[in-house]
Amino acid sequence: MSAATGQPVATEPHVMKTYSRLPLALSHGKGCWVWDTDGKKYLDGLGGIAVNTLGHAHPKLVPALQEQLGKLIHSSNYYLVPLQEQLAAKLCGLSGLANVFFCSTGLEANEAALKIARKFGHDKGVARPEIVVYENAFHGRSIATLSATGNAKVQAGFGPLVEGFVRVPLNDVAALEDVAATHPNVTAVFMEVIQGEGGVNLATANYLRAARRICDKHGWLLMLDEVQCGMGRTGKWFAHQWAGIRPDAMPLAKGLGSGVPVGAVLCGPTAAGVLQPGNHGSTFGGNPLAMRAGVETIRIMEEDELLANAATVGAVLRATLEHELGGVAGVTEIRGQGLMLGIELDRPCGELLGRAAAAGLLISVTAERVVRLLPPLILSADEAAQMAAMLCPLIKQFLATSPATPRSSA
Ligand SMILES: Cc1ncc(COP(=O)(O)O)c(C=O)c1O
Repeated sequence: MSAATGQPVATEPHVMKTYSRLPLALSHGKGCWVWDTDGKKYLDGLGGIAVNTLGHAHPKLVPALQEQLGKLIHSSNYYLVPLQEQLAAKLCGLSGLANVFFCSTGLEANEAALKIARKFGHDKGVARPEIVVYENAFHGRSIATLSATGNAKVQAGFGPLVEGFVRVPLNDVAALEDVAATHPNVTAVFMEVIQGEGGVNLATANYLRAARRICDKHGWLLMLDEVQCGMGRTGKWFAHQWAGIRPDAMPLAKGLGSGVPVGAVLCGPTAAGVLQPGNHGSTFGGNPLAMRAGVETIRIMEEDELLANAATVGAVLRATLEHELGGVAGVTEIRGQGLMLGIELDRPCGELLGRAAAAGLLISVTAERVVRLLPPLILSADEAAQMAAMLCPLIKQFLATSPATPRSSA
């Protein structure tokens, strides 16, 4: 039975069971709203996990992609792809970085960054380069990126892990300085500016500036995974821009193509020439359909001033959540930036997913006890108010009826 509608739902005997899915299937969407196959309507507070930048069926994106589908979906990286240069030039302009490698997903963008960090070390004569990574980080589910990830549950069952990572706590400058003093083979620092899967944990501006300074001092690359927090979500193109710093490498994906798979790693001058012909590649990476999605996503974001929208509507949503939930027993903290918000509770709250869906709201719960909102960047102030009006009573009711339990050790 569907948790949301009480109707029977189809099973998926032939789909590998790698996900715990809610028993509902989405059929179509418009703006920040989606409908399931039973006709039930939901407000989208998830945005396909920070992917649907422009919401659903955007009236400017759809015709552009339809035109591209009719022209050329895929060619090959054997040939020039003019749309790659168009998107790369735009991304370099927005970030101040120098060049771009295109792939299709976040983990691939991170793999490229990790290869760059290792080759950067080898080119300097470091035979066994090491990369600084973070507790509670999430970088993907390939063997290398899950090894960089700071979550034992993601790693369990997949050892031996890739070696060459040194792990530190977030926002602890002394720990990073200690690594500099004790690990001569380090070649890069690799971190999310806002840890998404780890529970919406923000690197402070001071920490980011210190990391930049330490990287400069020791000749390390600063590599910022903005797969989830980048592409306008925080109200600037890239979350690190709030700290006034610039990375040497920046993986992107998720929101870059508004739902069409696009990944990219952007590099500054120090990292831009590390990979040479034959060092890296991707069959799908940078194909014309993906590149058109990236170009049009950015064009529409600029035309419709979606950075400002993410900042202002995000601030309104956060203020409403703080007003409604701030003093409620069991609400530990409300945090985030722009339209990347987390409400931490004092107990596991995964069941809120189904309860929210039943009430007509799509959300996520991450790090066991953090309700996370990642809506499309087109969210209006009115829709933000509706989102808070749906979510806050659910959280209060949940806290009133579900006992607090100790944090699991995993
Ligand atoms: C910060 C970060 N990096 C990398 C990834 C992996 O991206 P993908 O699932 O596209 O491989 C994610 C996915 O959630 C992410 O949040």
